[in-house]
Amino acid sequence: MNMMTLVINFAYVISAILFIFGLKMLSSPATARRGNLVSAQGMLLAIVVTLLYTGLDFKWIALGVVVGSVIGLVAAYKVKMTSMPEMVALFNGFGGIASLLLAWSEYHQNVDLTTFIALVTFLSAFIGGVTFSGSMVAFGKLSELISSKAVVFKGQHLVNGAILLTAVGGGVLFAADPAAGYTFFLVVVGVALIFGVTSVIPIGGADMPVVISLLNSYSGIAACAAGFVINNNILIVAGALVGASGIILTKIMCKAMNRSLGNVLFSGFGATTQAAGSGPQGEAKPASAEDVYYILEAADSVAFVPGYGLAVAQAQHVVRELGELLEANDTEVQYAIHPVAGRMPGHMNVLLAEANVSYDQLVEMDDINPKMDTIDVCVVIGANDVVNPAALDDESSPIYGMPIIETHRAKTVIVLKRSMNPGFAGIQNALFFYPNTRMYFGDAKASIQALVAEFKGAE
Ligand code: TAP
Repeated sequence: MNMMTLVINFAYVISAILFIFGLKMLSSPATARRGNLVSAQGMLLAIVVTLLYTGLDFKWIALGVVVGSVIGLVAAYKVKMTSMPEMVALFNGFGGIASLLLAWSEYHQNVDLTTFIALVTFLSAFIGGVTFSGSMVAFGKLSELISSKAVVFKGQHLVNGAILLTAVGGGVLFAADPAAGYTFFLVVVGVALIFGVTSVIPIGGADMPVVISLLNSYSGIAACAAGFVINNNILIVAGALVGASGIILTKIMCKAMNRSLGNVLFSGFGATTQAAGSGPQGEAKPASAEDVYYILEAADSVAFVPGYGLAVAQAQHVVRELGELLEANDTEVQYAIHPVAGRMPGHMNVLLAEANVSYDQLVEMDDINPKMDTIDVCVVIGANDVVNPAALDDESSPIYGMPIIETHRAKTVIVLKRSMNPGFAGIQNALFFYPNTRMYFGDAKASIQALVAEFKGAE
């Protein structure tokens, strides 16, 4: 190993350490921004030292850097917080196609293709291809360019199984004789692109965050394989980190919904759930802004429980304002966060952080549930499935077993939503008919603005 290679690899070790610390810091909202910066520094170092390799064509690299940076900068400034999952889908897809193209070009460059290199070339191209086309379908569903419904048909699993077998067969034949196996390689690429589409269409739009996290993991595994193809240590390490963290996040999300990954990927959830309006019935007790104001004004402790409707209404800023008014009235205010409230991981944390809600007021589901009996009022804002008690006691419910924020145990529950319509899982919510629940109907932002006006009018 010459001196330069030694320096490069030493810098790669530093980069890998920065990536790992950065990832660790991303796990808490208080350190997440710094974590992102630390990881970005690791990436900058990795890129700079990679440029020290001899024999690079800088004119193409410069072109790529300029074009990529411009697109990245414009996208980062323009994309709305609510469109982040789509953006991540695109990023994953581009990561996947980069691994596929790298494997493809290396096939032509590398004169001495060993079986191992052929195998990782196949993996990089196949997983990269699946990631690319799967992410494009995910992007299309999330941005509603195509229908976000689960597309299911008879024999779907058989078709997918046959496609997968063809890919594996092509890969084995290619690895057995790489020099003569170019046709098999092309078959693998084609089949990978088809498989990405056929494996993502059966998944309903609202399950896309789980799939995106999985595709993120795939993009990492493809990059890791690409690292072996070109024998680049930092690509191997970074790919493995992305692959592992993506799969961990996927697992966390599935656990928070009490669904297996297989159920998310193959059940066509959303295409098959109960009809809207089925489930518990009864008489819900509506409340006016004035009623809710009197309840809140008298409360010693209030927990806001936000859900997808908060994001739809963009009510985060007025909620923070109401929280401050309550605190000025000597009420203890907390925000109870369910891990899959909303439509992407950390959705509620991001919205509340944007509205400058203090991190110390955010309480996780497992921390708030044990003290739920002591809370005077839970204000459920556009959340539905994540507070549905059927998850605890109705074995026939599709969400049975999903951990929930147990708002029904609070002294009073106020539910803010526009109608009695169900949420993502398509089932009615027993909470709405509990004796301690009052329904405050309307758009969440307008409803909370009315409460803010009541508090200000009373000052
Ligand atoms: P949902 O169960 O989807 O309920 C959202 C509620 O918000 C609806 O009942 C809707 O009722 C109400 N709403 C919509 N717009 C509103 C507005 N402008 N003002 C007031 N209310 C409004 O949401 P959730 O409780 O957050 O649960 C999330 C669901 O998504 C779970 O089932 C979860 O498994 C699933 N999911 C989440 C993720 C991640 S990572 N977050 C991933 C996959 C699946 P109205 O129409 O009557 O207003």
